[in-house]
Amino acid sequence: MTPDNETMQSPTSRIVQSSFAELAPLAPQMGRIFYAELFALDPTLRTLFVGNIERQGDKLVQMIGAAVNLLDQPRRLMPVLRQLGQRHVGYGVRRSHYDVVGLALVRTLELTLGNRFTDEVRAAWIKFYRLVATTMMAAADELADAA
Ligand code: HEM
Repeated sequence: MTPDNETMQSPTSRIVQSSFAELAPLAPQMGRIFYAELFALDPTLRTLFVGNIERQGDKLVQMIGAAVNLLDQPRRLMPVLRQLGQRHVGYGVRRSHYDVVGLALVRTLELTLGNRFTDEVRAAWIKFYRLVATTMMAAADELADAA
């Protein structure tokens, strides 16, 4: 039997969940900061984003929120992340892009949470992002293998 909290150890998921709750009122700013950070780190990524960037920021933050809420329910979370990863292939996203997006996310959290972004909170978010990114990338690879 697979326990339902196998995906991440509970202390980590609790830290990510409580810091996301603190971020919720700042979600609109968060999207803007995220893309500013991302395009500062790698301006070439701008060409991948064809739609409205404000709305894209909202979608990103909403999806992070959905993943954060499902952290303790891997059987529900995994298919959502796998499908998201496979859709990203169609957006032109490649494995190499995930590191820079992770870095932009950590910088965004740092700027948004200020001194509440302690070492412990940072470590928990990095673990969370690794889980999300590796699941998305693995599903994307399977799609490529099947082609
Ligand atoms: C934590 C990882 C990520 C999450 C939660 C996430 C979330 C999302 C969401 C919710 C959408 C809206 C469309 C959909 O649901 O299919 C989207 C679109 C998109 N994402 Fe991501 N994403 C992630 C990683 C990345 C990475 C690594 C890149 C690479 C630069 C990227 C680039 C894009 C692009 C180009 C679009 C389409 C934008 C457009 O149509 O203008 N995402 N993402």
